[in-house]
This record gives sequence, structure tokens and C-alpha cells, in this order.
Amino acid sequence: MKILGIESSCDETAAAVVEDGVTVLSNVVASQIDEHKLYGGVVPEIASRRHAENICGVVSEALESAGVTMDDIDAVAVTYAPGLIGALLVGVSYAKGLSFATGKPLVPVHHLAGHIAANYISHPELEPPYLCLVISGGHSHIIEVKTHTEFHVVGRTRDDAAGECFDKVARTLGFPYPGGKEIDRAAQLGNKNAFKLPHPKLTGCEYDYSFSGLKTAVINLWHNAEQRGEELDVNDLAASFQKTVSDILSEKLMLAAENLGYKKIAVAGGVSANTGVRDKIAHECKKRGYELYMPKFTYCGDNGAMIASQGYFDFKAGKVAGADLNALATLPIDQMYNVQCTMYNG
Ligand code: KG4
Ligand code: ZN
Repeated sequence: MKILGIESSCDETAAAVVEDGVTVLSNVVASQIDEHKLYGGVVPEIASRRHAENICGVVSEALESAGVTMDDIDAVAVTYAPGLIGALLVGVSYAKGLSFATGKPLVPVHHLAGHIAANYISHPELEPPYLCLVISGGHSHIIEVKTHTEFHVVGRTRDDAAGECFDKVARTLGFPYPGGKEIDRAAQLGNKNAFKLPHPKLTGCEYDYSFSGLKTAVINLWHNAEQRGEELDVNDLAASFQKTVSDILSEKLMLAAENLGYKKIAVAGGVSANTGVRDKIAHECKKRGYELYMPKFTYCGDNGAMIASQGYFDFKAGKVAGADLNALATLPIDQMYNVQCTMYNG
């Protein structure tokens, strides 16, 4: 079964054709990063306009490089939540039009479910149930993946997402947007034990994260040194920061795995490309004898293949939307199917 996947939730216009959820026939990504870089972050209005300009070409290229036409496609999957509302609406409107014009079913996909599905592309042998850490620019969740289409969030960030924390620290240290990758690069040249940075102390849910205190601590450290006329080693600070984030992420993930009885772990989302995070989680999983699954680097960030992959599993589970499908800026991953079922029945 071939699914066309469309993604436009943030700053990448992406489309892909994936067969049976795991075999990528094409994966086209038009990134807007260079333009948003000028402003130090994503400008939603610019993102929507660029999606509108790019989407026809990106979808045509995805079909062409897969060597297929719409006649060969079984369903059109599209990210409908969560994300920037204007950006999402471009993908959703386009997918609805395409579905109407071709008579192909329309499958609404949750962006985070898509990130998780990137692991099925990289590891076709992976089967739920497992515990997944989803770390992106907007989310940091520990999620029980019960089946391909059933999720339960057990922990989440109470403030900044891990990616947001990387990007804001990077901006202070003078790196361009999006700074996560830049911190990763600088960290490889620095001493990760040079600075001792704070770990959050939270009451309540023991699997929840908090990154705003760490972010503020690094920013204050940098600015205070500047005011004293001192220069901190940027690579050492990047390495220490990355180590602290990796330790925090891994610690709660391992705690949740142990308490909830999971020995199969996955990581997903843009920040899963971080080498420090990958190494730390790999080390902790190895120590405990857990199986670990992480997406190949190509599928860590936003892409259409992950949406087509999740679209395949959603379609098989009967999650099909009508022409009344709307985009949603926020939607918890464990509430989405209530919304979709209403659409299906309607
Ligand atoms: O999943 P994603 O592409 O978009 C969202 O759904 O948000 O994640 C983007 C985030 C950005 O914050 C970016 O800086 C971060 O992922 N990121 C990284 C790395 N590559 C991307 N963070 C740390 N290290 C990296 N190598
Ligand atoms: Zn994403």
C-alpha cells in the first residue's frame, strides 16, 4: 500500500511516498530555515506563505521521484496537528483538495505520532508496545506507544521543550537559528565537565521535565561573564549544557522504563539527532539490557516520510477524515483519535 505523506507544521514543506509504512520511495523536503535565520527564529506568516508557494512543487517532485502518479497512491496522509496554525492549514487544505480531486482517502496524522513512526522506517522490525521519548522544538514527552495508533503520555515538559532550550541557549552563545545542531557541533570540541549546571527539582509527576531553569542558568552565566569582561569557552559551555540536557532526558526516561516495565525504548523528534543525547541514552540502555531504537539522521527532523508511515498505520486502523478536516494548533497525542472518530462518523 502506497501512502503520500504531506507535512507543513513548521518551517519545512515536505512530501513523501512510503510503501507499507516502512519503505521510502521518495522523500522531498523544502526547508525555509535560511529565510527564518534572518529573524533568529520561525516567523509564522512567512512560513505559511512559503508553504503555499512550495507545496505543489514538493508534492509533484515526491510523486515523480517515487516513479508513481496519484493513480498508484492508496491514501493521502497529512499533518493536521499540532503546529503553527497557518502553516498546518496549507498542508491540510492542499491534501483535502487532492483527496477530493482524486477520490483518494484523506488520513489526518498527528505530528508527534509521525515523529515516532520515523522509527518504523529506520527499523522495520520495531513493534509496539514500547516507551518513546519524543523531543522536538515544541515538545518533550515520554510516551507509552501501546499500538501503532494508541499512545499514552506519561511525562512531559512543564515549560520549555528540549529543542527550544537548545535554540535559546544557542542564540545567547551567538549561534544562528536553529541552534541545536550548532551546539551539538561545538560540544564535540569542548569539555563536558567544565561547568556544573543545575538539574531541575520537580514535585508531582516524577517523569515530567523542566528546561527553563537550565536555560536561564546558562544565559545568566554567559551574560554575567560578559559584564565582568571575562570570556567563557563557548565549546566547553556547549558541551556542559548538552551533557546536562542529555543526563536529564535520560534519567527520567530510564526511571519511567523501569517503573512501567518497558525494556524496549525509542527516541524521536528533531533533538533525537543530537549526538550527546543519543550516546547517553544508548549507554544507559546498554547498561540495563534494553533494546533501543533511534531514527536515522534523515528522519529525525520534520519530513513527509514519517507522516506517510504513520498515515499507513492510521489508515489501516480506519482513521479517515472527511472534507471537514480542520488543522489544530494544539492537540494532545492521546486525545487525537476522539477527534478523528467524530470526523469519520460525521
Ligand atoms: O522535530 P523538529 O524538526 O521540529 C519540531 O517538531 O519542532 O525539531 C526541531 C528542533 C529544533 O529545536 C532544533 O534545534 C533541534 O530540533 N535539533 C537539534 C539537533 N538537530 C535539530 N537539537 C540538538 N542537537 C541536534 N543535533
Ligand atoms: Zn517535528
